[in-house]
Amino acid sequence: MEKKLPSLYYNWISLIGSAIALVSFSIIAFLYVLDLTSAGASSYFGIITYMILPIGVLLGLLLIPIGMLIERRQRQQDVASLFPVQFTVNLTDPRHRNAIIGFLIVTAIFLIGTAVGSYQAYHYTETVEFCGEVCHTIMEPEYVAYKQSPHARVTCAECHVGEGANWYVKSKLSGAYQVYAAAANVYPRPIPTPVENLRPARETCEQCHWPDKFYGSRQKEIHRYMADEENTRYTYNMLIDIGGKKYESGRHSGIHWHIDNKVEYIARDSARQDIPWVQVTYQDGTTETYESMYDPAADSLVEEAETRVMDCIDCHNRPTHIYRTPVDLVDNALYTGDISPQLPYIKQQAVYALRAKYTDKDSALVKIENQIREFYRQNYPAVDDTLRAELNQAVSALRTMYTNNFFPYMKVRWDTHPNNVGHSKDKGCYRCHNGYMTTAEGQNITHECNSCHVIMEQGTPGNMEVTNNIKQGLEFQHPMDIGGAWQSMSCTDCHDGGGAVF
Ligand code: HEC
Ligand code: HEC
Ligand code: HEC
Ligand code: HEC
Ligand code: HEC
Ligand code: HEC
Repeated sequence: MEKKLPSLYYNWISLIGSAIALVSFSIIAFLYVLDLTSAGASSYFGIITYMILPIGVLLGLLLIPIGMLIERRQRQQDVASLFPVQFTVNLTDPRHRNAIIGFLIVTAIFLIGTAVGSYQAYHYTETVEFCGEVCHTIMEPEYVAYKQSPHARVTCAECHVGEGANWYVKSKLSGAYQVYAAAANVYPRPIPTPVENLRPARETCEQCHWPDKFYGSRQKEIHRYMADEENTRYTYNMLIDIGGKKYESGRHSGIHWHIDNKVEYIARDSARQDIPWVQVTYQDGTTETYESMYDPAADSLVEEAETRVMDCIDCHNRPTHIYRTPVDLVDNALYTGDISPQLPYIKQQAVYALRAKYTDKDSALVKIENQIREFYRQNYPAVDDTLRAELNQAVSALRTMYTNNFFPYMKVRWDTHPNNVGHSKDKGCYRCHNGYMTTAEGQNITHECNSCHVIMEQGTPGNMEVTNNIKQGLEFQHPMDIGGAWQSMSCTDCHDGGGAVF
């Protein structure tokens, strides 16, 4: 065989290296064409094409010079005593010429391949499939909840990475650690929140929701069901003051007032639920400091702790990974008819079944079904005849709800991550608007029910109290007589999303 390349190249290591590089490269080229021509390939496809195979090419290419170096060293040792080794390039020598042309062609192909490859890898690591499906058991809670959320068409990267090379690199560096954590099985369960180095929300959320577009009130109908035999419905129809820029003053009012006034706070816990100190800096530069009347922050805490400036995530911490509460799930299903309100005590029993703790998904589904059927067998045996279809449907609805909102493997359910919008499951707005955050002059952060929403309708079907006074609304009626306790206590003293505690 005529040797067209430098003789040093003809050694086993370099030859094997070339073979590995060539084979990997051909497979990449083939898969790349396949990827272009077929729609919806699997998520592992990208890992192989754009992450594993390029390592093969690189390794193979590295082996070539390594082999040549080793070969040279050996020859030097063999013949050192006979000939001094010299390095010369002679373009009139066809072997040297071939080597250089070959080297340039391979380098050019490799560079183009690398450019296309890294572009593909860049896009691939930003896809929802890569983030949500590759480590599917770890990301299952986030991914499943996301797919049913209002943001199901927004990619993971649009919120978690955003625009710009800087954050891309940051996210890939922390991503590299996550790959290790997943492979070595050292990841925390559940994945803790708040996410420490989440990109500031104003740089991500505001790509789509900019504050000037908040306007007026949002109407929300909330249908609740009592834990009684009839599953009595209780409805609130309220106007929630989203707020917005006021034409006259040019300033924001209402709920989104917090974004154009700087609100800083100190939290005692990592979940940012226990807030003893809040400071507002108004646009004219004046400040106002509020401290908890009952449990003020120690001076040392105020001096040393880092304050956090409130942004979208301090309220909307569950915009897309929404693990719904048993109460929300069952109330929604009763309203849409997935669970029939004709089944006696179904609200209460369904909430009990969902909120119990189970060790794994399979046994949970079996136990939930058994528990519901057993309840009717013992207390309402007639249901099996008269409402059999409704009972079956309720059981199947509960199984779906459990599957989509409870993740025992990752230890995730509604009570593992607080939701800061509202105040009836978690403290939420009441972390500050609890009536006991005051200034030195004794002025409170507002606690008035009407400062955030007004109730336009409330009551049970056929017994609705209605007003058309948008400013004042109705005085809140608690669905069950608790003697005004709701005025002096927080809703969360009795409610936690898993049914009211007595
Ligand atoms: C609409 C914006 C948005 C989208 C889209 C989004 N996330 Fe999130 N994600 C968040 C926010 C906000 C948090 C909570 C931050 C906090 O509490 O500090 C979060 C938290 C998380 C957490 C921490 C654990 C948890 O359950 O809260 C993981 C893991 C996560 N997201 C993964 C993903 C994956 C995977 C996708 C795509 C399938 C995705 N996210 C899509 C906004 C988003
Ligand atoms: C790429 C665009 C995009 C980004 C980024 C984005 N959103 Fe959204 N958001 C949407 C769309 C689209 C909807 C759905 C609108 C609808 O259903 O009417 C939505 C809806 C919402 C809603 C209303 C949900 C409801 O229940 O009706 C809230 C609150 C919200 N987004 C907050 C956020 C927050 C907080 C962030 C940042 C963590 C964020 N969004 C990032 C596009 C985006
Ligand atoms: C003080 C808490 C708080 C902050 C801070 C906050 N929001 Fe909201 N936001 C709310 C509440 C409460 C609602 C109404 C209730 C709901 O939609 O569930 C709301 C509603 C919305 C909606 C739905 C609006 C509509 O018309 O239906 C969007 C979108 C939204 N917020 C985005 C954002 C973005 C983006 C930011 C950051 C720039 C932000 N919010 C900051 C509390 C807050
Ligand atoms: C970290 C503390 C903090 C949290 C959490 C918080 N707020 Fe506030 N909020 C304030 C402070 C401070 C003020 C200004 C004092 C006042 O107006 O009483 C304020 C003012 C308001 C105002 C009056 C704005 C105006 O027009 O003057 C509304 C409405 C409001 N908040 C709604 C909410 C809602 C809804 C939530 C929960 C989703 C919430 N806030 C969560 C600190 C907070
Ligand atoms: C700081 C603002 C704020 C204050 C003060 C406030 N609320 Fe709310 N409230 C909210 C927000 C935000 C929600 C959640 C709306 C949603 O679900 O989107 C809510 C939800 C509710 C709901 C619906 C609960 C459910 O079952 O879903 C009721 C009822 C309610 N509030 C009653 C009250 C009463 C009574 C008071 C006075 C004691 C009060 N609120 C004070 C902000 C506030
Ligand atoms: C002293 C304890 C207590 C307090 C405080 C309390 N509740 Fe309740 N709540 C109950 C009980 C008990 C029931 C009846 C149980 C049931 O039917 O589920 C109930 C039922 C309800 C229901 C209808 C059924 C359901 O589970 O959704 C709503 C809505 C409700 N409460 C909202 C509130 C709100 C909003 C607040 C705060 C403003 C509040 N409650 C404060 C004890 C309390």
